[in-house]
Amino acid sequence: MTKERSSFTGRIGFVLAAAGSAVGLGNLWRFPYLAAKYGGGIFLLVYIILAVTFGFALMVTEIAIGRKTGLSCIGAYKKLDKRFGFLGWLAGIVPVIIVPYYCVIGGWVIKYFAEFVSGNGSAVAADSENFFGNFIGMQGGLFDNPMLWFVLFVLLTAAVVIFGVEKGIEKVSKIMMPALVILCIVVAGFALTTDGALQGLKYYLLPDFSKFSSSTVLGALGQLFYSMSLAMGIMITYGSYMKKEDSIEKSVHQIEIFDTAVALLAGLMIIPAVVAFNGGDPSKINAGPGLMFVTLPRVFESMPFGNVIGTLFFILVFFAALTSSISLMETVVSMVQDKLHWGRKLTTVVVTVGILLIGSLSVFGYGPLADFKILGMQMLDFFDFISNSVLMPIGAFITCILVGHVVGTKVIAEEVGLNGKFAGEKMHRVMIRWIAPIFLVAILAAQVLTAAGIITI
Ligand code: PFF
Repeated sequence: MTKERSSFTGRIGFVLAAAGSAVGLGNLWRFPYLAAKYGGGIFLLVYIILAVTFGFALMVTEIAIGRKTGLSCIGAYKKLDKRFGFLGWLAGIVPVIIVPYYCVIGGWVIKYFAEFVSGNGSAVAADSENFFGNFIGMQGGLFDNPMLWFVLFVLLTAAVVIFGVEKGIEKVSKIMMPALVILCIVVAGFALTTDGALQGLKYYLLPDFSKFSSSTVLGALGQLFYSMSLAMGIMITYGSYMKKEDSIEKSVHQIEIFDTAVALLAGLMIIPAVVAFNGGDPSKINAGPGLMFVTLPRVFESMPFGNVIGTLFFILVFFAALTSSISLMETVVSMVQDKLHWGRKLTTVVVTVGILLIGSLSVFGYGPLADFKILGMQMLDFFDFISNSVLMPIGAFITCILVGHVVGTKVIAEEVGLNGKFAGEKMHRVMIRWIAPIFLVAILAAQVLTAAGIITI
């Protein structure tokens, strides 16, 4: 036991743990539908540019803050500067908003797994759009009710957190994660052989600059935060567990490469296929949160052993989602615990009830509350928007001000430089001090002005 555990300590252990949190529904479910929605290749290009510049700088910063202070986010920001304690709260609120709707999608994944494992894959594929619409629209009986699957996903997450068996789950997911990557490669390869997939591949890979807008950038930025678990205090906590002798810079490169590769692969699996199914016309894609669930059953259907592949796929996605929802829930539980000094079990139960209540809004948002919209969005989209496109950019902006202009990027550079030269130091300094904050203000302002109808970008 001890031996096994020690083999996962050190830098590789750190990278695997952080990558386990980072790779989840964000890569598999969220990235493909955003890429399809925001113009394909142009979104991809903007995303990659942001990942290697801004994503790199912010992840290095967060991990270094965590390792330097040895604290999780609320304490860590306070320790850097007393006046910035509120930033910890701002970051800490984000998982509170995300985890309920994350579990709603997790529930959809279990439902699709149940359909495929019971041999129903072909029936789902035959009318995949209506099947999905009726399912989330709460049109069917008990087993077709998304509320049931949502509650199941929440309870599974809570059970792991309450019984403290995260280590066991992590071990399983270390086998599941590579298996998922291999399966995605196989499915993507297959999807690309569909008639008309080439048009979709072009749409996905070749940037069309006429589709560029401030929404593309904000969409890509929010996705970057979400996918790499940034601007929500998570990487600070991970950093606080990292050893001083391990290289932060190398670890960040590896986490980023892995996370981005899985997202790109998921896009490759879904976008060319959906364009092919639409007769080769990318403008006809109806890209929303249902994209993965509507498209993939049809891809599986066209493959030999489609039911088996579909079953395997959804169970692997389920594990990726579970490891992520566990780390999200853990964050919320430990925040509440620190503040209220309750026991761990009681806190987890209370947090679980809260997740069930808030998540129900997202479930009903597609059913009886479908006509109730906030800023023209359904509930799930609204929660997603408020966390990714509003709170995270604001949190990231304040972090840049704190690190770039109050405590100074030197503090971060010293921490990163503890094990050798910090190769990206110059870029880090310029990014955090100037480019990132100016860019964040510009993009938020552009969005607000666009929403108010004052400008069009
Ligand atoms: N990065 C995860 C994903 O892409 O699905 C989402 C997430 C999970 C963020 C867990 C933060 C976290 F702690």
